[in-house]
Amino acid sequence: MAREFSTVGVVGLGTMGAGIVEVFARNGIDVVAVEISAPALERGRATLKGSTDRAVAKGKLAEADRDALHERVHFAVGLDALHSVDLVIEAVPEHLDLKQRIFAELDRVCPPETILATNTSSLSVTEISVATSRPNQVIGIHFFNPAPVMKLVEVVRTVVTAPEVVADVEALCARLGKVDVTINDRAGFIANALLFGYLNHAVGMFESHYATREDIDAAMKLGCGLPMGPLALMDLIGLDTAYEILDTMYRRGGRDRRHAPVPLLKQMVTAGLLGRKSGRGFYTYERPGSPVVVPDEATPLATESALADGARAIAKVGVVGSGTMATGIIEVFAKAGYEVVSVTRGMEKSAKVCEAVKTSLNKGVVRGKLAEADRDAALGRISWSATLDHLADVDLVVEAVVEELSVKKALFASLDEICKPGVVLATTTSSLPVIDVAMATQRPADVVGLHFFNPAPVMPLVEVVRTIRTSPEATATARAVCAALGKTGVVCGDRSGFIVNALLFPYLNDAVKMLEASYSTADDIDHAMKLGCGYPMGPFELLDVVGLDVSLAIQRELYLELREPGFAPAPLLEHLVTAGYLGRKTRRGFRDHSHR
Ligand SMILES: NC(=O)c1ccc[n+]([C@@H]2O[C@H](COP(=O)([O-])OP(=O)(O)OC[C@H]3O[C@@H](n4cnc5c(N)ncnc54)[C@H](O)[C@@H]3O)[C@@H](O)[C@H]2O)c1
Repeated sequence: MAREFSTVGVVGLGTMGAGIVEVFARNGIDVVAVEISAPALERGRATLKGSTDRAVAKGKLAEADRDALHERVHFAVGLDALHSVDLVIEAVPEHLDLKQRIFAELDRVCPPETILATNTSSLSVTEISVATSRPNQVIGIHFFNPAPVMKLVEVVRTVVTAPEVVADVEALCARLGKVDVTINDRAGFIANALLFGYLNHAVGMFESHYATREDIDAAMKLGCGLPMGPLALMDLIGLDTAYEILDTMYRRGGRDRRHAPVPLLKQMVTAGLLGRKSGRGFYTYERPGSPVVVPDEATPLATESALADGARAIAKVGVVGSGTMATGIIEVFAKAGYEVVSVTRGMEKSAKVCEAVKTSLNKGVVRGKLAEADRDAALGRISWSATLDHLADVDLVVEAVVEELSVKKALFASLDEICKPGVVLATTTSSLPVIDVAMATQRPADVVGLHFFNPAPVMPLVEVVRTIRTSPEATATARAVCAALGKTGVVCGDRSGFIVNALLFPYLNDAVKMLEASYSTADDIDHAMKLGCGYPMGPFELLDVVGLDVSLAIQRELYLELREPGFAPAPLLEHLVTAGYLGRKTRRGFRDHSHR
């Protein structure tokens, strides 16, 4: 029989604590909610009230249930109020000495059978436990932010946590409607160990002006389907908390430079820019604690002003190539009303591309997303050619040929001879340096990257890559074209992986390393990222879809260019590729897909 928890204590009612109180009280459990001072207690009470009022307003909680919820919570200053609870969850700031002091005090105040839990994200639960006389009753219960919403709980057992304590806490998680993964005590557990290197890297991109905060966040939301971008997430977590988590992970987790907090973070924390909770972090919020972003001096002007930035008028577009990307890009431009010249290496290929575009447009008609007349108009705007000479009068060329530098360079040299002056020449490369392609022409100022995502007609993101030679006008033109296509164009520098792949693949590689180290299973890691962070797919699901060979190639490029030791491809990934386990396409990758 699992132990009954009728009263629990929560210590610290900040970002996490207030949410944890709500989780328990919503599930019929009495809560003693404790803070360090009366003003802090009032803040915690106000957070709980704000959150439950929002739930009522959204129709997710009945008024009577909200009132009953509040009646279950007893607020108090000081730990003495916890003298008769069954379980305590501590959620004070991420400092080991503070947590150890609190646990020593809890050990004194609470009855001997009370379970003492910490919500720490990165500190050693074992080190916290030894501050008490009952380390076997100390455990980590790591909730995710916002606690009432996120389904995952990481249950962290130390080498001395009693098995029945683990079982009781697992049963409690189920009662709370949470999904738990039980793991050992390692810095960052599953989710944060995979998340924080990525978050810190994104902050580094912002600090180095590689891309704007809006573009970094839009790239990860639209390119990967994440619920929020990394900088908005940092603001939600709290920059002070994020700093402490990174710092602890750096020190506990083998001094991986990727966890060394980016200097800007420390500066922001010192300046009191803590994120949502202080009303200002990477973004500015309506008021402290509000989720509503308001414009500030860094907010970009609306895209309509692109013309004012010198964007050139584009009416006719050439698309070179006959693969998946070229086909999708032709469709996207034609549907958006551009006149399109498709150039392939032979009329046979042209016929195939034409068929593929027709099939795709027809699907749109069948699904009711495209009128027949619009399909016919789009097809009517495309002309099919097997010679580059037909690009003499286009305003923009998008190259989507094979991913080989020599081929692309030769093509750009030809385009340079054929195209009229002022044309923007764009490459869709996902891994080659755009500057190499640009320097194959006499007009590098007009060359940009336009990195579409697959399938181009569906994916809303385009990375606009500007090299050190790209002119502001060419960049403005590319961005305006993206907007006209109904896509979000994010501008970034010419570095391996641009924004999305540079942030995504090291995270996937880290997941493989975690699996390789037998810290957790592929299923639990996938669960943790989906239920703890709201990712649409777990890392192993995604790797099997993308292809392990493709992923390895991208990771190798990143490692070669950035020389970051932490980017070295996971040996397990290399072995699976060598063995021919490439993912869904070979029916076997991290998982066996043969029966599906
Ligand atoms: N922020 C996140 O997204 C997140 C997610 C999961 C876990 N965590 C972990 O949760 C814990 C709390 O983080 P947070 O972001 O909620 O911090 P926070 O700074 O928002 O809140 C901490 C609260 O603890 C209170 N406090 C400080 N000393 C206290 C004491 N002696 N007694 C009682 N209360 C005290 C503070 O007044 C404050 O309200 C940390 O261990 C953190 O790593 C944070």
